[in-house]
Amino acid sequence: MSNPASPPAVDVLDERPGLTFPPGFLWGAATAAYQIEGAAAVDGRTPSIWDTFSHTHGRVVAGHTGDVACDHYHRLGDDVALMAELGLKSYRFSVSWSRVQPGGTGAANPQGLDFYRRLVDELLANGIEPWLTLYHWDLPQPLEDAGGWPARDTAARFADYTTLMADALGDRVRYWTTLNEPWCSAFLGYGSGVHAPGRTDGADAVRAGHHLMLGHGLAVQALRAARPGAEVGVTVNLYPVDPASDSPADVDAARRIDGLANRFFLDPLLRGSYPEDLVADLSTVTDFAHMHDGDLATISTPLDLVGVNYYSRHVVAAPVEGAEADPAPSCWPGSEDVRFVTRGVPVTDMGWEIDAPGLTETLRRVHDYTELPLYVTENGSAFVDSVVDGQVDDVDRLAYFDAHLRAAHEAIDAGVPLRGYFAWSLMDNFEWAWGYTKRFGMIHVDYDSQVRTPKSSAKWYASVIRRNGLAAQ
Ligand code: FCB
Repeated sequence: MSNPASPPAVDVLDERPGLTFPPGFLWGAATAAYQIEGAAAVDGRTPSIWDTFSHTHGRVVAGHTGDVACDHYHRLGDDVALMAELGLKSYRFSVSWSRVQPGGTGAANPQGLDFYRRLVDELLANGIEPWLTLYHWDLPQPLEDAGGWPARDTAARFADYTTLMADALGDRVRYWTTLNEPWCSAFLGYGSGVHAPGRTDGADAVRAGHHLMLGHGLAVQALRAARPGAEVGVTVNLYPVDPASDSPADVDAARRIDGLANRFFLDPLLRGSYPEDLVADLSTVTDFAHMHDGDLATISTPLDLVGVNYYSRHVVAAPVEGAEADPAPSCWPGSEDVRFVTRGVPVTDMGWEIDAPGLTETLRRVHDYTELPLYVTENGSAFVDSVVDGQVDDVDRLAYFDAHLRAAHEAIDAGVPLRGYFAWSLMDNFEWAWGYTKRFGMIHVDYDSQVRTPKSSAKWYASVIRRNGLAAQ
């Protein structure tokens, strides 16, 4: 798809004057374990909910699984060499819980830990700061069988696993993220069921969200106890939510979706309370009896930083009166009938509207909650790429990054303490329910040969990192 706003070719950009980011800005790229590692049954790893889900007929497009993925498990040396060529200052990866603690309880698996030690050592040897995410959606299957995130005990299991990781890698990893996007784990995993484990119960989704945050708080405490010098945070995915019109009904629809998408997590994590209007919206779904005294204090254990994943904006409208309810399971419990409106602006291959100003808005909003340093821990776009003469000229992806980095810079100008940016993703990978059909990478992956080809966006990003900034427009 061609985008009329695409910037000119890379070499022209390189000749332009720069827009500079603060000294020490942490330029990175991100991936997640199940999306790239493969080696699903190697060296003692056991199934996670994503193994089970992807092997269940009809769950993932074309029956794709993460069994092999980018085979990163066997190619970590080459992959870190590519990161070094890009000049990355940091690499955000996640740990497969089922690899390091098969089954999710009990003793560590030394071979699993060894893989991450080798990865971290290789990064450090190349001057790349490792940024470790403990949980990027891949719960060990036995913990799901015992109730999954709707069960309170899962939070305690997550804290144990965190201690195990802090003991094993805390001597060489400084930056830790507990959860990646708890909204997706809770509401896509247990609400709409389009993500693993594929359950569809609104009350379970709310319980899962609470227990994920409880697990996060316990994990922060475990990390602090084991590694007082660690920089600890959490990554949330946020969207500006706009009403389709200024009618009170549309404004109320936006309030409801904003509550579920954003404030469900921001308020407990950063303020130690659930918003009253959200609790009222959810009154037909749950009475919050799963919340115990003291939980909110645990959930709001002080952090060192907040990670923000940003992709797009939601525009919503009130339900159409008299319309029949959509029978499909929803990821918006209690607000199932709110309508999501498209504005006709350019979209990515995911169908997500491209809205760079939304990133500025989102960062400013989080800054209103907290003075903590912020990091964009994911931002990026899927487009259909073609390899022509061994090159992938992904101008649309490059334009997306360029526009969003300008928006990030605007937030810095407005006083937001933004300290780093991680492109999603380092390389094409298993895009969850979309399998390998959606490509987000700066590096193209040929899944038959496992050949990696840096796209134009990768070369451009390398130049951004070199100059610590962007060309002006
Ligand atoms: C985010 C996920 C990441 C990837 C991107 C496209 O929600 O954290 O794993 O799938 O979306």
